[in-house]
Formats: sequence, structure tokens, C-alpha cells
Amino acid sequence: ETAQQIARQVLARFQGQKGNLLPVLHAIQHVLGCIPASAVPVLAEGLRLSRAEIHGVISFYPHFREKAPAPIVLEICRAESCQAMGSDALAQHVRERLGCDFHGESQDRSVSLEPVYCLGLCAQSPAVMINGRPHARITPQKLDTLLKAEGW
Ligand code: FES
Repeated sequence: ETAQQIARQVLARFQGQKGNLLPVLHAIQHVLGCIPASAVPVLAEGLRLSRAEIHGVISFYPHFREKAPAPIVLEICRAESCQAMGSDALAQHVRERLGCDFHGESQDRSVSLEPVYCLGLCAQSPAVMINGRPHARITPQKLDTLLKAEGW
């Protein structure tokens, strides 16, 4: 099903209710993982709002996103202990491999890179988190192996 079809189904479910934009957006993001730009014209028509009004609401609430998140979320600890133990070099390696910086996504959009500030693993720095799982004493080589294990 396309985003437009999902948007129509959701609109039908909330039809006639006042103030239904937020519940509609929540429902669409719940199904699709995001609110794709292609759904916006359908929503605008169905809710008698302008596209700009809908975009405004989507960008106002940090919860809503217009693109699905990358399937692999890599967080690199940037706090002191990890910095002292080489997280800068690790970050540099990752930037080069993924072709993006922090808060960005790899060229193929499958890995998103985020900073994190202390994972409670300072004694085993440097630490990273991949899809919510922490990993300690990480070298660039170890990180490559971990990403490969995630299918990258
Ligand atoms: Fe990185 Fe604590 S500083 S885990």
C-alpha cells in the first residue's frame, strides 16, 4: 500500500472528528514509521488544511518525522573518558566509512550516526551503542565487525 492509500484509510477512521490532525499524524507514523511527503497532499485535502499548515505541524513536534529512521542506529560516546581513550579516532573512522557526520545518515541511508554522552561503560572506554545495545572497548576494526554483523 502506498503512503497515499494509508493516509486515506486513516482519514476515514478519524472522519468528522474535530482537531483530528494530531491523531491522524500519529496513526500514519505508527503504520509507516514516518509521515512521507507524498501523504501530505492527501491529508491537506481530507482535513481542509493547506500543505504548509500540515508541514508546520510535522516540523513543530520533534516526535514526527518525514523520513523513516535508518535501520541501524550507531551512537558513539563523546564524553570525557571515551574521548581520552580514542573516541575521536573512532568517530573519524566512522565519518569516513559512512560518509556522514553526527546527526546524519550513511550514503545508503542504512546507518544513522548519533553522539551519546556516557553509556556508563567508562571503565571500558571507548564505548558505542548499536540499536540500543552497548559495546565496550571498541576499535575501528571491532566497530566494522559489529556493523557487518548488523547487516551493513
Ligand atoms: Fe563513554 Fe562513560 S564516557 S561510557
